[in-house]
Amino acid sequence: MTTPIWDFVQRYQKAETSRLHMPGHKGAVQLGCEPWDITEIRGADALYEADGIIAESERNATALFGTAHTFYSTEGSSQCIRAMLSLAVSRAARRGDAPRILAARNVHKTFIYACALLDAEVRWLYPSTPGGLCSCPITPAELKAALAEEQTRPAAVYVTSPDYLGQQQDIAGLAKVCAAYDVPLLVDNAHGAYLKFLPQSAHPIDLGAAACCDSGHKTLPVLTGGAYLQIGHTCPEWVAEARSALALFGSTSPSYLILQSLDLCNRALAQDYPQRLQRCADRLAGLCEQLQKTGCAVRQTEPLKLIVDAAQMGYTGYELADLLRAEAVECEFADEDQLVLMATPYNTELDFTRIEKALAILKAKPTRAPIAFDFAPANCCMTLREAVFAPHEQLPVQQAVGRICGSPTVSCPPAVPIAVSGEMLTPAHAALFERYHITTVEVVAKGFTADRTK
Ligand SMILES: Cc1ncc(COP(=O)(O)O)c(C=O)c1O
Repeated sequence: MTTPIWDFVQRYQKAETSRLHMPGHKGAVQLGCEPWDITEIRGADALYEADGIIAESERNATALFGTAHTFYSTEGSSQCIRAMLSLAVSRAARRGDAPRILAARNVHKTFIYACALLDAEVRWLYPSTPGGLCSCPITPAELKAALAEEQTRPAAVYVTSPDYLGQQQDIAGLAKVCAAYDVPLLVDNAHGAYLKFLPQSAHPIDLGAAACCDSGHKTLPVLTGGAYLQIGHTCPEWVAEARSALALFGSTSPSYLILQSLDLCNRALAQDYPQRLQRCADRLAGLCEQLQKTGCAVRQTEPLKLIVDAAQMGYTGYELADLLRAEAVECEFADEDQLVLMATPYNTELDFTRIEKALAILKAKPTRAPIAFDFAPANCCMTLREAVFAPHEQLPVQQAVGRICGSPTVSCPPAVPIAVSGEMLTPAHAALFERYHITTVEVVAKGFTADRTK
């Protein structure tokens, strides 16, 4: 496996060339990484017009992921989500379809911003059984019923899988339904880049998705910000269009540290990563079993996540996070009811031992009732775009009831909106905001009405 970007920067740094170009640090060390932090100089290729070392590195990634094409992003899955929605909306325009996305409601807030930017209409798909704030299971039969109701063909179906709690949608089943309706399936696979490297790939592209985003930085050995826009084999025209779609939302100064990290990740993936992944998943499964034996309400929803049901044990997730901190472990996410731990093959045995030490001694207390969360359809007064770009004012939660949500209101993580821009805020929303420690909300300014004649 070649590492052309890393090789180039190594050569450049060793040549001690006088840097009369950006960035301004000129390679002088403050953090330590500056000598390798370059920009698009001669020979370094250009991310959005790649035909040199970046193109070669992306070809390596494409072969590893088995996609029609794997594109690099240095601005996270967030950039890839905007790009894939833009591809879907452009394709819809070409085909005379509606710029409407059918989306499972547990979207990351980036989806809302992307739809606002693209003026895409959203029809939310709600779960038949409430799954909490993070999860929104949609079965193929439910998707089929939703698509059958559509008067005009939508631009795409969009689901998040795995979600923050590691729940996975039936991507293969959903992809079949989408194929029958000739609608592309887009997957927010930010948490699942590694799924490709399990003994049996569970990566969305292998299961029939048209495109997905993978945050390399969440589960692979990649610097924060490194991500992939994965194009599947069902929308081949997107291979030619995706780079421009990414450029539409990206900085003209992509980080070469992140590009090198994505480049070197290819080598790790081609070497012993799959074996190391399996060992990590087995170790986590073993830890889960051991903890369950001690009475800890823990489950492994996907191979690299451990979820502790704090409410069932009579604790809050925040309390468990503090107990873990006392053993020098920092979790990924905690709320009133849950705690999420994310492991990768780059965790050490010491890390697992510390988790066990903190959780195995927990004495379960009387169970607490978890937050009842239901993604109930809300009264929508404006489109996403109208509400996001309208003038806003910030109000304390209780005063926001009866007003229109301006910015999607999220607790971060998991950044899944409790209320979506354009929705009328209700007392039920306010109660949920308070449970998630949200104290103020951005609402559409009083007196503003969308001018629908424009
Ligand atoms: C489900 C989901 N989608 C998308 C994103 C955005 O990913 P990134 O941080 O790589 O931009 C996140 C971030 O946590 C996420 O959890």
